[in-house]
Amino acid sequence: MSIPTEQDRVLIFDTTLRDGEQSPGATMTHEEKLEIAEMLDEMGVDIIEAGFPIASEGDFNAVKEIAQRSKDAVICGLSRANFKDIDRCWDAVKHAGKPRIHTFIGTSPLHREIPGLSQDAMADLIHETVSHARNLCDNVQWSPMDATRTEHDYLCRVIEIAIKAGATTINIPDTVGYTAPRESADLIRMLIERVPGADEVVFATHCHNDLGMATANALAAVEAGARQIESTINGLGERAGNTALEEVVMALKVRNDIMPFSTGVDTTKIMSISRRVAQVSGFPVQFNKAIVGKNAFAHESGIHQDGMLKNPQNFEIMRPEDIGLAESSLPLGKHSGRAALKAKMKGLGYELADNQLADVFVRFKELADRKKEVFDEDLIALMGDGTDTANDRIKVKFLRVICGTEAPQSADLTLTVDGVDNQVTATGDGPVDATFNAIKNLFPHTARLNLYQVHAVTEGTDAQATVTVRMEEDGKIVTGLSSDTDTVVASAKAYVNALNNLIVRREKTKPEGV
Ligand code: KIV
Ligand code: ZN
Repeated sequence: MSIPTEQDRVLIFDTTLRDGEQSPGATMTHEEKLEIAEMLDEMGVDIIEAGFPIASEGDFNAVKEIAQRSKDAVICGLSRANFKDIDRCWDAVKHAGKPRIHTFIGTSPLHREIPGLSQDAMADLIHETVSHARNLCDNVQWSPMDATRTEHDYLCRVIEIAIKAGATTINIPDTVGYTAPRESADLIRMLIERVPGADEVVFATHCHNDLGMATANALAAVEAGARQIESTINGLGERAGNTALEEVVMALKVRNDIMPFSTGVDTTKIMSISRRVAQVSGFPVQFNKAIVGKNAFAHESGIHQDGMLKNPQNFEIMRPEDIGLAESSLPLGKHSGRAALKAKMKGLGYELADNQLADVFVRFKELADRKKEVFDEDLIALMGDGTDTANDRIKVKFLRVICGTEAPQSADLTLTVDGVDNQVTATGDGPVDATFNAIKNLFPHTARLNLYQVHAVTEGTDAQATVTVRMEEDGKIVTGLSSDTDTVVASAKAYVNALNNLIVRREKTKPEGV
């Protein structure tokens, strides 16, 4: 049975754990997926696409456990157009109070060529697979992948077949981020007008951001009659990502005068989930990202600051509190206690459990000893230091580098690998190169370094550096992230963080084409 929607209610479907996790390098651990799913459920997301159960044992177990723990949200799993995928998906989602099977096939001329199916053969397959899914579950979503490049007549034909076979939601993916707002609206309007049975199902929009129009395209589709928006936290997703959940939800809230649609999302939880997703995915949020970027509520120029002091509405169209960002100028330093840190972190959007607080407090004290002032950004970077978690196989224990004008620069490094300490001294072209050579020596691997990026989190020579490292091994891309006032230490920890993520990634074996 599909979810009933009032005329003005738009369902929010989150696919951070499926489409988002498919972004190269954005692997999340089992526990991290459970945590994100719980946050999504609590913030009022209507449908959570928890993964692709056939893809790996790990994906299956994550979807199953998310389903078992779910509270209000519908839990959905993805499956290709074959019985084996659909059965596996059902085995995982059936544990939810509200399960959904999502099945898809590429319907555009280019995508029909991949399985080499004629239009008729594909239409038959759609009928068989959607019927099969519907026999298992009364909530079935069907997607014609690459819908925006599919011939209109054929698209109408296969959607009618899917509806007749029992689909309750028809999702229209702009898989390659090719459409534009007017075309996106026209397509949904045309389908609702032409397809028999369209009024009995919910139409959904799933937009990728290749031309930077994903959010605009999704909102245009809603104005034309779509009542489900598929999105991800921070816009995570394949290539340039997907429609960002926080953008559509806030756009519908702030511009309700011209887009009179509501969602069930508690917007005050946006900031905390955005930050947590950035941490666990290893994808930092760009500073000027709408809603959740570091600068989204920052005012630098004198004219803007003056205007803000007189009336925040001069330069802000939404209040920071609306997204769970408290404006607070509580200065924190080495004399501050746990309660102040906890309150400050809450103000910044982080709800810390007692064990997390204990861990962050130790790192905060270490930082406060080294820095005169601890800024909000330092604390955020501290939270983003994804290194040294209990499950990590490799940890940086000791590092000392010799650098300067006289080559060769060298690094004396001790790594703990599976609980055993190993030490080496390596040289290199600069201290970072020497450190990375030392890591390679102690933990040999064939992964290639694709990206090494450093940026200062705050100003001054005692600023924390955040280092991002991206590496690739046999097509698997992983990211590592770390922050420290010492750039070389941050680099070593980011590299080791990427290796730990690679180890997790190696354990996941996805079938071809997934
Ligand atoms: O972008 C896409 O087409 C998808 C489908 C699987 C819905 O993610
Ligand atoms: Zn997608």
